[in-house]
Amino acid sequence: MEQRVIISTQLESELVSALSECEHDKLFVLTDTTTLELCMPVLQNFYCMKEAHIITIPATDSHKDIESLMMVWKGLQEGGASRHSCMINLGGGMVTDLGGFAASTFKRGINFINIPTTLLAMVDASVGGKTGINFGGLKNEVGVFNDSKFVILDTEFLKTLDAENICSGYAEMLKHGLISTEAMWEELVSFDLDKPDLKQLQRMVGDSVKVKERIVEQDPHEQGIRKALNLGHTFGHAFESWALKRKPILHGYAVAFGLIPELYLSVAKTGFPTEKMRQTVNFIKEFYGTLDITCDDYDELIELMHHDKKNQNGIINFTMLGGIGDIRINQTATTEEIKEALDFFREG
Ligand SMILES: NC(=O)c1ccc[n+]([C@@H]2O[C@H](COP(=O)([O-])OP(=O)(O)OC[C@H]3O[C@@H](n4cnc5c(N)ncnc54)[C@H](O)[C@@H]3O)[C@@H](O)[C@H]2O)c1
Ligand SMILES: [Zn+2]
Repeated sequence: MEQRVIISTQLESELVSALSECEHDKLFVLTDTTTLELCMPVLQNFYCMKEAHIITIPATDSHKDIESLMMVWKGLQEGGASRHSCMINLGGGMVTDLGGFAASTFKRGINFINIPTTLLAMVDASVGGKTGINFGGLKNEVGVFNDSKFVILDTEFLKTLDAENICSGYAEMLKHGLISTEAMWEELVSFDLDKPDLKQLQRMVGDSVKVKERIVEQDPHEQGIRKALNLGHTFGHAFESWALKRKPILHGYAVAFGLIPELYLSVAKTGFPTEKMRQTVNFIKEFYGTLDITCDDYDELIELMHHDKKNQNGIINFTMLGGIGDIRINQTATTEEIKEALDFFREG
């Protein structure tokens, strides 16, 4: 893979060296309104940022759209960007997805560097080459696969991030632990998410991102093993869409909730150890609470799962586990089994 992931210890010098490997005539930084205020001040004092042009788009996923994309293209054009300019995406997954797409399309593609500022973007969105925007009411409808040259991870940015967004990103870390090693999973389910120790988290983020890197490297275009990263997401996406019509929840919460029925199915169908499922479920219940679904919601949830774009031939596709790190992609379940898993989610 072309992308280089740097676990930061000294942001300024790492940025200088990354920039020296991305030869450029002009430098741009993309922020959203929040990261402009909370994260840009960290970079602003760096000598290498002296002549950078800042482009700012409105914050949150509802603005991951064509309007914001046009703002970025326009900002690049008005700032005199050429084919040899470089852009730094400084923000959460919304900024790295949209900025990556803007950079990949401007003048047929300029170099970009991701500096993710949310936990979700650090362990997930900023690595792996998926870029894009929402369109026509559908998430990530238009985009391209294209790697940033560098991803620089610095958990110092998390100091200003709210607890909910920390939990949201942490759910993807839990997922990475479940699909990798016992040691990693063990540390994750023993971590005090209420009072996260940023030093420890920095190291855990480094380990976590390597899990994603390793899997994406083997299957950049999601033909096989990359589906491991969908663990928790079949139920998770259904929960997310269900909640969207009632009281929206952050993506990572939906994933954490999705892990519960999917681990239940893993116990029932692929031999995942009950005790490890229990421990993971207890951790999720403690820090994420639950979602108030009733059996009257089952049909709607199953219908939503049928619409998942990852399905083929109308069959709901699950990623399950035979144990920690023992990944079983392309699993199926009967409607009866799905309902049982939902019963477990409610009553477990
Ligand atoms: N490309 C991929 O592989 C991939 C994977 C997962 C998610 N995503 C995408 O990522 C997006 C979600 O990412 P996200 O959760 O980071 O959302 P986000 O970028 O919308 O950030 C969430 C909120 O936190 C704010 N914020 C960012 N950094 C902050 C900081 N340091 N301190 C305080 N506030 C800060 C943002 O302004 C925003 O309001 C979605 O668009 C999703 O589709 C992409
Ligand atoms: Zn996810």
